Amino acid sequence: MKENPQIARIAVFASGNGSNAENIIRYFNDPAAVNGGSAEVALVICNRPEAPVLARAAALGVPTETITRSLLNDETRFMELMEKHGIDFIALAGFLLMIPPFLISRFSGRIVNIHPSLLPRYGGKGMYGRHIHEAVVKAGERETGITIHHVSENCDEGAIIFQAGVDLDTTDTPEDVERKIHALESIHYPKIISTLVSSL
Ligand code: GRF
Repeated sequence: MKENPQIARIAVFASGNGSNAENIIRYFNDPAAVNGGSAEVALVICNRPEAPVLARAAALGVPTETITRSLLNDETRFMELMEKHGIDFIALAGFLLMIPPFLISRFSGRIVNIHPSLLPRYGGKGMYGRHIHEAVVKAGERETGITIHHVSENCDEGAIIFQAGVDLDTTDTPEDVERKIHALESIHYPKIISTLVSSL
């Protein structure tokens, strides 16, 4: 399903709240954004039927698919889904299932993730969502940030594309850190995706 071959079709994979998914959708819907009209979010993939991201996407008119882990790991069925929606590029945004090796190789160089810390710090197993911000505060860090990276078979270890940092105050709680991180994510993630899809 590819109406205009000039327009790259992005699938956002998300498991939760979906603030990044919403920012990315809005960015590419805005013709004034840099490369704004060069791509669109054509699909949101989610593995949790109750996740708010599904309603956010639907409210913006973006098709959604709720998948199971076994569908994600079934190469034939999952690639059929990608082809049905004409997907060219995948952006993970708070997606909590491991990406299977076939998808990494079929979308080689075209799957990215955003991680809410300055990798390699606070990455890997168990480091997701609020756990990261709690660990950062507990360690007394004076800076944290975001990392946008290619997706590889090892969690949080793909090549780094972009990082941005933010200063922390000694009084910051994990909730404060999360707010600072979301602000950084909304500025940078859509723009980095835009740069990457414009060179597809
Ligand atoms: C973001 O902080 C992102 O970096 C991480 O998961 C969080 C998802 O937040 N991978 P949201 O669902 O986009 O609000």
